Amino acid sequence: MATSRRDTADSYTQRAHREGYPARSVYKLEEIQLQNRIVKPGDTVLDVGAAPGSWTLFTHRELLKGNGTIVAVDLNPLRLNPVPPTVVEYTGDAFSPEIREKLISHGPFDAIISDAAPMTTGNRTVDTSRSEWLAEQVLFLATEHLKVHGNLVIKIFQGGGQQELLLQMRKLFSKAKTLKPKACRNDSFETYLIGLDKK
Ligand SMILES: C[S@@+](CC[C@H](N)C(=O)[O-])C[C@H]1O[C@@H](n2cnc3c(N)ncnc32)[C@H](O)[C@@H]1O
Repeated sequence: MATSRRDTADSYTQRAHREGYPARSVYKLEEIQLQNRIVKPGDTVLDVGAAPGSWTLFTHRELLKGNGTIVAVDLNPLRLNPVPPTVVEYTGDAFSPEIREKLISHGPFDAIISDAAPMTTGNRTVDTSRSEWLAEQVLFLATEHLKVHGNLVIKIFQGGGQQELLLQMRKLFSKAKTLKPKACRNDSFETYLIGLDKK
C-alpha cells in the first residue's frame, strides 16, 4: 500500500508501464481531462512537447477513441511503436518559423495541450523563466490558432509568471484556472494552466 506521495508516484510509473505508456505523465492528462473534458472524439488536437508520447497515445486511445487528428511536436521523436494512425508527427522546435508553419497548416485546433518543459539546469530562476517563455509561446499559438469554444492546457513551472498568464487567459476564455494533478511528483514545481471555451 502506498504510504507517501513518492510511493504513489512510483505506482504511476508502474501503471504506465503495465498500460503501455512510455511515461507516467499520462495520468496528469487523465486527471485534467476527467475534471474538464478538454478533448472529445473527432477533435483536431495540437500536442506541444509530446515526446516520448504518453499524452499523444492517451489522446488517441481514450479521448479521440481513434477518431480525429493529433498533431504532435517535440524536439525529440515520439517513442511510440507503432505511431497511432490519428497522429501527424513533427520533430523540431515547435516555435521555429519552419515547424510553426507546418503545425498551423493543420489548424485551427479544437484543443491545444502542452506539457512542454525546458531541460532543467537546477537553477530555479533560469528554469522558471524558460518554462514561462514556452508557456507564453503556447498561449500565443492558442490566441491565433485555437477555435472559438476550444480548450487549452499549458504546463508552467510555478514562479514562472503563471499569474500574469492566467490573467491573460481569463480574457481569452470563458473560464481559466490552474490545476496541479495528483500525479505530479511531490518535489515538482510544475502546474497546469487550463483555459476552457475560447471566446
Ligand atoms: C515532460 S516532457 C513531455 C511528456 C509528454 N507529454 C508525454 O506524456 O510523453 C516535455 C517535453 O517538452 C519538449 N520541448 C521542450 N521545448 C520544446 C520546444 N521548443 N519544441 C518542442 N518540444 C519542446 C521536450 O523535448 C520534452 O520532450
